[in-house]
Amino acid sequence: MDPFASPHNLDRELHSLLVEASSSLCDWFAESGSQAPIADSFVLPEVYPAKEGVSNKALLSELKLLMDGSYRPSHPRSLAHLDPPPLSASIVGELICAGLNNNLLAEELSPSLSLLERKLCKWFCEKLGFGDLSGGVAASGGSLSNLMALVMARNIAGLASDPTAVFFASEDCHVSFLKAVRIMGLGKESLQKVPTDENGELKISSLHSISKKIKAEGKKCFAVVATAGTTVRGAIDSLYEISQFCQKENVWLHIDGSIGGIYGLSKITSEIVQGLGSADSLTVNPQKLLGVAKTSSLLLVANKNHLSSTFSTGLPYAEPITGSDFHGGELGIQGTRSAESLKLWIGLRYLGEMGIEKILLESIKRKSYLESMIDSSKFEIISGPLHLLALTPINFTSSQSSDWSIKTRKSLLANNFMLSRPMYRDRYYLKAVMGNPNTKFDDLKLLANLINDSII
Ligand SMILES: Cc1ncc(COP(=O)(O)O)c(C=O)c1O
Repeated sequence: MDPFASPHNLDRELHSLLVEASSSLCDWFAESGSQAPIADSFVLPEVYPAKEGVSNKALLSELKLLMDGSYRPSHPRSLAHLDPPPLSASIVGELICAGLNNNLLAEELSPSLSLLERKLCKWFCEKLGFGDLSGGVAASGGSLSNLMALVMARNIAGLASDPTAVFFASEDCHVSFLKAVRIMGLGKESLQKVPTDENGELKISSLHSISKKIKAEGKKCFAVVATAGTTVRGAIDSLYEISQFCQKENVWLHIDGSIGGIYGLSKITSEIVQGLGSADSLTVNPQKLLGVAKTSSLLLVANKNHLSSTFSTGLPYAEPITGSDFHGGELGIQGTRSAESLKLWIGLRYLGEMGIEKILLESIKRKSYLESMIDSSKFEIISGPLHLLALTPINFTSSQSSDWSIKTRKSLLANNFMLSRPMYRDRYYLKAVMGNPNTKFDDLKLLANLINDSII
């Protein structure tokens, strides 16, 4: 096979390689339900290039080895993390994206796709309640969107060179904020963690008192982070009250909606996450519940000029862009990046608003069903209004919860149920995420029985 497709004729070899690889992928999906979510063992193919390249046939069988050793998100009992099966249309988007090999760095390297990204971000902004000046940029994952938001907030506050500047976030905020602290050259105490209440929501009274303390120490705050859907229990901070605090204090509000933001797309579920539009910046991760093939994250901002004023350096090796827009590479940390929006766009077009709503509503239905089947006299269940819950036996010590979670996770895996085992506060929990549309109520009934029987 020629290593690159002919620009003149139909490349028959590429065509048949794509057909065979697609067929092998479809087989992989078709057999996923009869395999375990994760294989007990696997064989890795040859890793390093040999002296001469291998044939297509050999490539396909090597690929098969990798596929056999992969995690299977479409197994109906894969419930461990926020990693659902990929939306079928977005698989096609990923393939076409690779083939086009456009670059969102510069308009001339991705004319239609750059415009698509801007328009898609604007659509999200409007749906989630942002105003006319809003816009956004795609990023490879929620951690990067969160980092860019903090860099922007600090810059807009004029505190970019103040290493003592702080931001507030709940003690249940995602670990990406700790990473951001390190990357941004801030001290560990720059992340001022605010205690949460019994529902896992940031305590507003504590926000006020910590803010007072920080002011008394002469330090400046450049952002408050509210979480719309915490990682372990899906709690949603009081967005309205936090935004009131931010307005009064004239501080940037970033909402980490990596998990919950997407619920704002449906009129029915948007009630749960009311107030997203009051943010200065918002992370949404369609790669999570919507199943857009990884990665797919957006950083949305109330005023898109804040992105360019923070990240634009000029792009002297590319043709200037016409109009008032900026090159994609001037709106965030990444330079070269793939057209992730293509998979998002094709996935959303395929689903339509009704399809999106169905995914959101059914995820909550599955969670509520599982919750109703767990014996609440034995287990403490922690869950917000979203599609995830975590549980641990009532009154267990930390070490008892550790033993129980290891043993139970193992016995659940023997029944092909894969749950995760997060440490929360001082105990281990088993966490189930109901973002897998292949999961049936019968699966959940069996799961609940196995969990209920895990302690006498
Ligand atoms: C609340 C929250 N924010 C941010 C992230 C980070 O997203 P990513 O893994 O896409 O970087 C996660 C990941 O689970 C999360 O749960």
